[in-house]
Amino acid sequence: MKSNKLKELLKIEYPIIQAPMAGSGNPILVAACSNAGILGSLGAQYLTPAEIEKSVTDIRKQTARPFSMNLFALKKLEAPPVESIRKAIDHLRPYYDKFEIEGPTIDQVINQIDSEAQLKTILEAKVPVFSFTLGMLDAKWIKAFKNTGTILIGTATTVSEAVALEEAGIDIVCAQGAEAGGHRGTFMAEHERAMIGSMSLIPQVVDTVSIPVIAAGGIMDGRGIAAAFALGASAVQMGTAFLTVDESPVHSKYKSAIKERDGEDTTITRVFSGGAARGIDNKFMQENRAAELLPFPFQNALTKPFRKIANKCGDLDYTNLWCGQSGKLSRTLSVDSLVRALLKESKDAYKMIEQLNE
Ligand SMILES: Cc1cc2nc3c(=O)[nH]c(=O)nc-3n(C[C@H](O)[C@H](O)[C@H](O)COP(=O)(O)O)c2cc1C
Repeated sequence: MKSNKLKELLKIEYPIIQAPMAGSGNPILVAACSNAGILGSLGAQYLTPAEIEKSVTDIRKQTARPFSMNLFALKKLEAPPVESIRKAIDHLRPYYDKFEIEGPTIDQVINQIDSEAQLKTILEAKVPVFSFTLGMLDAKWIKAFKNTGTILIGTATTVSEAVALEEAGIDIVCAQGAEAGGHRGTFMAEHERAMIGSMSLIPQVVDTVSIPVIAAGGIMDGRGIAAAFALGASAVQMGTAFLTVDESPVHSKYKSAIKERDGEDTTITRVFSGGAARGIDNKFMQENRAAELLPFPFQNALTKPFRKIANKCGDLDYTNLWCGQSGKLSRTLSVDSLVRALLKESKDAYKMIEQLNE
């Protein structure tokens, strides 16, 4: 059975993955998840190689169980012309002024963290699992990770992307439905065409590829898990549900906002990072709907200085509030209690399915 294969590959007790959440997770959350029998994941996209090394050490100090590291697998992008960067900085000047900061220099926008160095650090750390999104890992890295015995998970938002991942030799595909919070993993299709809901995406990916499929997007409780398994998934990946747990490092106001908002309160935006991502609609998004934006990761560098301050003080108007469409179903409890609840609820949901044949 596919589900057994995935659990075997990842060496986890329960087929649940705490989604990597770059900028919103930390080693404490990851280790708590792995210790609860699921797979904890650290989103390392915004970490320097030294920070990645330290994070892996910190996770290993807190758990002996498998965990995953995650990066965006973007193609190397040409930096935008200096004139465009200057214009973008000028446009954001009122926000820098509001937070009484200088804003980034042109150099800070152009010089991003070296993704090859990030990959090399993760490779050398010989982590149990490496997952990636927003692209395809280069063949040389796929080979290198396979040589170290690291299991690879790639993200797909369309059937074609899932096929490409399987053909490239990736072990497991994470099918990300349109409901998902955070960045869209799309790398082959146009974003608008790749906004496929999980109910449509999961079974079509399952029917097409022969590697195990993880379902992601909008799954918050046992009902969602049972539905994903009924559609053929071998595991679920949950992000928003783990943003509000006790061990999550995000601001308490952000946690409350997730619980208070309906699906209609989230939209897809590029204003914070340049990449399409789902988050709670806020003032900065509304004020910048028509703004000219730089591509990821350059736009991210432009907004980072004031987002950092806004995040710290819980100012929800000027920072990204990534959140899936099911935020209202989130709970504040410990990771361990959440995992126990999910397992019980899944069983109950299966009993409901059994009623079909009674
Ligand atoms: C705050 C946040 C940050 C995210 N960052 C990443 C990331 O760094 N890497 C990644 O592969 N996915 C990232 N995602 C997407 C998740 O992997 C997953 O697709 C999504 O959380 C599933 O939808 P849900 O939030 O409704 O559970 C992020 C999601 C959230 C909510």
